[in-house]
Amino acid sequence: MPKPIKILRTRNELQHWRAGLEATRPTVGFVPTMGALHRGHAELLRRIRPRCDVSVLSIFVNPTQFGPSEDLAKYPRTFERDLELACAQGVDVLFAPAPEEMYSSAHSTFVEETQVSRPLCGQFRPGHFRGVTTVVLKLFNLVRPKLALFGMKDAQQFFVLHQMNRDLDLRVSVEAIPTVREPDGLALSSRNAYLSADHRELAPRFYKTLAETSTRLRAGAPLSATLEAGRQALEACGFTVQYLDCVELPTFNSPNVVLPGCPYLLAAAVYLGATRLIDNVIVNPAALTAIGYSAPSFEPAESS
Ligand code: PAJ
Repeated sequence: MPKPIKILRTRNELQHWRAGLEATRPTVGFVPTMGALHRGHAELLRRIRPRCDVSVLSIFVNPTQFGPSEDLAKYPRTFERDLELACAQGVDVLFAPAPEEMYSSAHSTFVEETQVSRPLCGQFRPGHFRGVTTVVLKLFNLVRPKLALFGMKDAQQFFVLHQMNRDLDLRVSVEAIPTVREPDGLALSSRNAYLSADHRELAPRFYKTLAETSTRLRAGAPLSATLEAGRQALEACGFTVQYLDCVELPTFNSPNVVLPGCPYLLAAAVYLGATRLIDNVIVNPAALTAIGYSAPSFEPAESS
């Protein structure tokens, strides 16, 4: 009989449970989420299970990472379905606090990463990564995991958290898994449900264009002209491009040229109607393992 999942709602319950583990010191693995779970989240849970003795999933729609114009109230909340998915993946503990449990009305401390969080999404979502780092630090302090897994779907988020972990000596293994995609290449996201039938048909062009752009860059095509061609190709087929850019890894500096064998993140945010989609490709992923990032995170794009 599999062990039933333990659902904890308060920080006290979680800390009490966590303190009870001290005697046996198991390896705790952690997957933080905002719920509305899909196959991408299931993959994180599937991959963490063999890596730890005890797995913790958190579901918390974190208000501090939403901007004033972003609709926190509309974020999908599907707790019963999420619970089923968590049980099916053999999660040991589900931490699902209420907003007032995580942030008292007197909350006034935030954690901010100031380099990696600046370009790409950071330009267009001020305060977003500050909200992410703040909540993940709080969750790390409560769960005290040995290993935490994140998705490359949100590559900038992963690199921001990796940096925070290093800078603040948190001593968690912060690792990423490859983006889980639909068979046609579209990255899984709870936002895909908002796409009209026409936009859903168009959506796979997004990843295809990124993968093609990455292939061109790796072959030595000039950087800014190639990015501009990618942007125009997306606009021509009906996307509104917020950004399409390439940064050096792991610094997130802007390169002048793409050097052979060096790692870069090619990332974009686009709108189809009112739905904002993000996706990315790592250029020269093998180079990242050489500087200490774990190998399965950075599988190359299909067209490379
Ligand atoms: P959320 O959007 O729920 O995502 C939780 C985790 O699932 C993140 O690490 C994200 O990168 C990963 N994920 C989402 N879609 C994926 C896909 N298609 N393939 C692989 N992984 C995928 O990211 C957040 O929540 C929040 O910002 C959080 C880190 C929980 C802080 O509030």
